[in-house]
Amino acid sequence: MILVIGGRSKIGSVLIDDLLARGEQVRALTRLGEAGRFPDGVEPVAGDLADICSLAAAMSGADKVFLLCGPVENEYELNRNAIDVAQGADVRLLVRSSILGADPEAQATFARDHGACDEYLRDSELDFTIVRPNLFLQNVPETTIPAIDTDGRFYVNAGDARISMVDTRDVAAVAAVALTEPGHESQEYEVTGPEPLSYADVAAELSEVQGRTITYVDVDDDATRKVLLGYGGGEWLAGALVDLYQDYRRSGRDGYACEVSDTVDRLTGRPARSLRALLLEQLAVPS
Ligand SMILES: NC(=O)c1ccc[n+]([C@@H]2O[C@H](COP(=O)([O-])OP(=O)(O)OC[C@H]3O[C@@H](n4cnc5c(N)ncnc54)[C@H](OP(=O)(O)O)[C@@H]3O)[C@@H](O)[C@H]2O)c1
Repeated sequence: MILVIGGRSKIGSVLIDDLLARGEQVRALTRLGEAGRFPDGVEPVAGDLADICSLAAAMSGADKVFLLCGPVENEYELNRNAIDVAQGADVRLLVRSSILGADPEAQATFARDHGACDEYLRDSELDFTIVRPNLFLQNVPETTIPAIDTDGRFYVNAGDARISMVDTRDVAAVAAVALTEPGHESQEYEVTGPEPLSYADVAAELSEVQGRTITYVDVDDDATRKVLLGYGGGEWLAGALVDLYQDYRRSGRDGYACEVSDTVDRLTGRPARSLRALLLEQLAVPS
């Protein structure tokens, strides 16, 4: 039995489908109780990473755990709770979803918090695998496209950084392999897309696919923070997103964020999906 924590996220929801297709027994934890629906065949369990008792109940009878938590200020404590409870249960393997560049000393909040979580897991008694995805390609259709203004412009504080953005379905596929096939214990996988993309490249791809001129405008951090605060995600999330893109700018055209790994190919036997493929799929979906 595999317990999926974070099963309603972009990675977790696809992972559940992958695990069911592999014939695995799946239990999924959500804070939403009955309202957090999962596909047929999944055993839903109400719980919260902040609530140790609910984690113990959810892990009872599970021999493997997938652990993903949303981007929240207390992400370290929430992950630590799950790792501690798993150590006291009969969990044989914990697969954690982290972020590319995770490092307890990192300047970017997300990378620093994930780095601390990864270190805590590494120091635990558990067998573990860590998957470290780069920025999600899905952010382009979900966030960038809706933000294009009437003049065909969108605004990001990314400078000319290149980022090997990854399709979340490929991250899920890698996690499914790590959870169900032998030999992935103590492995830490960087999971990237097939190519490094600057936001100018993203604009060029969008222009090509949409048949109109789309332009990327590089904006400063203060303007970005104001826009993010306007979305209502709060100070912490706005600050963490701004400093993530600061980190990408430091990485620049050739730094860590543009590295292309062969993880998807190697573990799943097929190439990582590209932005072009994702955009064409979205275009094909009737609205
Ligand atoms: N966005 C990116 O480009 C990107 C790139 C690389 C890595 N990441 C990392 O990927 C992770 C997921 O990000 P996302 O934006 O995809 O997340 P998301 O869609 O907001 O999903 C978050 C998931 O975490 C679960 N969760 C949050 N707090 C919880 C709690 N207290 N107890 C139990 N479950 C909890 C939610 O479960 P319920 O709502 O069902 O309770 C949900 O399934 C984050 O760690 C982020 O740093 C993101």
